[in-house]
Amino acid sequence: MASEDVMIKIESVNKSFGNIKALDNLNLDIYRGELLGIIGPNGAGKTTTIRLTCCVLKPDSGDIVVDGSSIHDDPITIKSKIGYLPEEPNLYERFKARDLLRYFAELYGVPKNQIEPRIEELLELVGMTHRSEDRINTFSKGLRQRISVARALIHDPEIIIFDEPTMGLDPATAASIRNFIRQLKGKKTIILCTHYMEEADLLCDRVAILNKGRVGDVGTPDYLKSKIHGDVILTVKTDSKREPTTIKDQITQFESVGTVKFADGIFSITLKHRNEIAAIVDVFGSHVVSVNTQEPTLNDVFIHSVK
Ligand SMILES: Nc1ncnc2c1ncn2[C@@H]1O[C@H](COP(=O)(O)OP(=O)(O)O)[C@@H](O)[C@H]1O
Ligand SMILES: [Mg+2]
Repeated sequence: MASEDVMIKIESVNKSFGNIKALDNLNLDIYRGELLGIIGPNGAGKTTTIRLTCCVLKPDSGDIVVDGSSIHDDPITIKSKIGYLPEEPNLYERFKARDLLRYFAELYGVPKNQIEPRIEELLELVGMTHRSEDRINTFSKGLRQRISVARALIHDPEIIIFDEPTMGLDPATAASIRNFIRQLKGKKTIILCTHYMEEADLLCDRVAILNKGRVGDVGTPDYLKSKIHGDVILTVKTDSKREPTTIKDQITQFESVGTVKFADGIFSITLKHRNEIAAIVDVFGSHVVSVNTQEPTLNDVFIHSVK
């Protein structure tokens, strides 16, 4: 991609806390308009990366350039362009939901005539219109997270950063938070830090794997999955209980085939690509009961990558 398409450029960033090296010469480009996932185990450096990008922390060395501004020169401009949902949002407990949003709208300099419509729009987006006159201290964790999402979006930022947005939420609330993110996709530049691989796989255009303060692989979920051994797992259920040696011998002849296993009438075959699937299934003739192919998951990639 051309350099003008890079919205955030993280260049040779180092950050230590005492003798803990949280970020170790980190380099990463985030393109304008993409949804980039940063995945990695606890302690990988995800939150530190985000806090540096949002100018909450300073690096020991290196630079982060956000839409042309360096964190060293222009943190105020950078902050105005980013909406940040922290890992543990700190809300003002005694505020009513609506007043909290109004407070942040004023803080971020949203033009006066736009504040109320913006609040309505966001309350609607996060499904909180009916709770807008209630105080934060009456909210469950899920409702707090919804209002925190609205708060992060109040100044209509170009860049939105979600740090573990669904951690600790019930499945239904987590799904609705993912849905808000999906609605923003394509309209904003988004970073999503998560240790849930399925979440990254579902939502992200590209994923960067972070481990011990360094970026390993970066690419689309499909690209990352295609890089690991056994691109496809083909399972064929047969009605045949007989010794499958002849079938097995024939299947192993195919160029795409890795390993072939047989148990309880089911063949499990790892394939390097999908081009020969039809021909392989033909070998079974009329003994086929069902056929299934399975992709490796991002979790497989992750385990492979951080080993
Ligand atoms: N304020 C801090 N003080 C001391 N150590 C910290 C601080 N913030 C982060 N760390 C350490 O830096 C490393 C990276 O942490 P973090 O960026 O929070 O990782 P992640 O978000 O991927 O779980 C961890 O070892 C963590 O303990
Ligand atoms: Mg974190």
